[in-house]
Amino acid sequence: MPDNRPTLRPVVDDFFPSLPASIPPPGVSDPFGTQRALEPKGGLPQPARRVDNDFSRLFMGEMLVAVETLNVDAASFRQMEDAAGAGLSEAERDAAVAGAVVATVRERGKQHNPVTGSGGMLLGRVLQLAPGRVRDVVDVGDRIASLVSLSLTPLRIDQVKAVRRASAQIDVEGEAVLFASGAYAKLPPDLPERLALAVLDVAGAAPQVARLVAQRIAGEPTRVVTVVVLGAGGKSGVLCAAEARRTGGARVKVIGVEKHAPFASDLRGLGVCDVVAVTDACDPIAVRRAVLEANGGEEADLVFSCVNVPDAEMSAVLATRDRGTAYFFAMSTSFTKAALGAEGVGKDIDLMIGNGFARGHAEHSLGMMRQMPAIRALFEERYG
Ligand SMILES: NC(=O)c1ccc[n+]([C@@H]2O[C@H](COP(=O)([O-])OP(=O)(O)OC[C@H]3O[C@@H](n4cnc5c(N)ncnc54)[C@H](OP(=O)(O)O)[C@@H]3O)[C@@H](O)[C@H]2O)c1
Repeated sequence: MPDNRPTLRPVVDDFFPSLPASIPPPGVSDPFGTQRALEPKGGLPQPARRVDNDFSRLFMGEMLVAVETLNVDAASFRQMEDAAGAGLSEAERDAAVAGAVVATVRERGKQHNPVTGSGGMLLGRVLQLAPGRVRDVVDVGDRIASLVSLSLTPLRIDQVKAVRRASAQIDVEGEAVLFASGAYAKLPPDLPERLALAVLDVAGAAPQVARLVAQRIAGEPTRVVTVVVLGAGGKSGVLCAAEARRTGGARVKVIGVEKHAPFASDLRGLGVCDVVAVTDACDPIAVRRAVLEANGGEEADLVFSCVNVPDAEMSAVLATRDRGTAYFFAMSTSFTKAALGAEGVGKDIDLMIGNGFARGHAEHSLGMMRQMPAIRALFEERYG
């Protein structure tokens, strides 16, 4: 009988502090993955220019994964498409995006788009769990989605098998390593894998919408709270609009801004928005006008930017009322443009960076697929 079990990689047996712990001295592996940072050596892997993707050996606390699909960050995918140039056939454009991903991974040891700075996440199968991990809910052979960015995940691509533009997913053969501190989700048995992967990519958005909307309506007992979502017809945009409606009910007015007419039409069909404006989120004056028109001349309390393109900062700023919050989930957001732009127009508003992580975010967002059949059907059609 041939032995088909994968060969276990040797584990570099250095000191490994149990979580939570401070970062140990250089050269020693730790839960944050500093052992894999090559440039600068011993730093954190996300800001590193290059990481070590030699998986012939593992370090304490690492999980080795056979990678099947990369879910590329939407802003990154769009940037690579744009960089490929106009006038290409679909096949040529897909090949250009795949080529850019392969080149980045070869150069950096991770899918860390040098222009957008963002990554995405992956779907794969657990090959090996090095000692030193705590709280694992998986065994070797289980299928998982990573919940930390590809921009910090050591990755090797052996082959690109397919590019699926509609979902910004790329099927590959390769391997990756997750660190002990890196969140992941075991794929749920009741949802199609590609759907789960698409939802998990933006899992941080909806729970944070729920928090912010709940806080705001608690603080405004006599008034309807207005929520604007830019890029509301996309993946995270639909989830944000739906969550605002679910949390706020009749206490919120939800205004969706979407440029792509078919996505705006899908959004209307879901019935979660009071108004859907087909407007360019990169045109701040047009967005402000659309919001004021839809909201009786008032600006919004909460504005969520979920676009996949740069230059939407000032639309969010101009649409937000005094002491309101503009929340930038989009990776295409420039901190400088948002901060200096708000100052420039004298807007005393809170500018929030969209944290990809919120406690319980995977279950929260997958739960939306189970509880909201119309959204699940739309996402299965688009991304499943
Ligand atoms: N903070 C985090 O941790 C985190 C995690 C994951 C993703 N993200 C970011 O979240 C953003 C959205 O991701 P996603 O997966 O939801 O992307 P998506 O599905 O591609 O949605 C983006 C939507 O914005 C629309 N749009 C593009 N340009 C627009 C414009 N000028 N005006 C109005 N709408 C416009 C897009 O339309 P088209 O289809 O025509 O392009 C699409 O419907 C991305 O920037 C991504 O990087 C952040």
